[in-house]
Amino acid sequence: MDFEQSQTKTNLARAFAGECQAGARYQFIAQKAMQEGKKNIQMLFKTLAKNEMAHAKVFWDLIAKNSKEEQKNIEIKAGYPFEDGELKEMIKSASNNEKSENTTIYPSFAKIAEDEGFKEIAEKFKLIALVENDHFMVLDELYNKIKDHSLYQSATQYEWKCGHCGHTQLSKKSFEICSLCEMDNGHVELTFLGNKKCCE
Ligand SMILES: [Fe+2]
Ligand SMILES: [Fe+2]
Repeated sequence: MDFEQSQTKTNLARAFAGECQAGARYQFIAQKAMQEGKKNIQMLFKTLAKNEMAHAKVFWDLIAKNSKEEQKNIEIKAGYPFEDGELKEMIKSASNNEKSENTTIYPSFAKIAEDEGFKEIAEKFKLIALVENDHFMVLDELYNKIKDHSLYQSATQYEWKCGHCGHTQLSKKSFEICSLCEMDNGHVELTFLGNKKCCE
């Protein structure tokens, strides 16, 4: 299958645009979290935004690598999420978008790439879908815990860590004010989300 005529080329271009926009949306969410004093959510979304831009670069490079002709402009027609609102709602829509990327969009792009004979591209779609699944797990848990007012609670003893000064405290409920640096719980590290380390 000629890459120029393939559906895979269009799908890569759509994926590239989608990742750029996810990166932008996550930076907007990070800004909103910062304005609300939630440093931990800000840091989480900055990391996610960085991941999405890295995915965009993978797709960009695959287009460049597989094109025989020099690309000047690629036309695509696609819908992209545009959901604005409160921080909690934006986290929910981010979680939904991650889910549809990893359960529907990228698996179908991978299948088409395989059918069209582009093995390496199919592999990259699958690998990125796995990352989007991790993103979904983190965001889904974050949203549910915010909704249930349980973000700073644990069923068992947990070592809560202040992301500002590094102080840790073992308990079922995180500190509201860090006893070392006196920052509020908007600085509590959220590395427990999705059972993954998600923040820097
Ligand atoms: Fe991504
Ligand atoms: Fe993602």
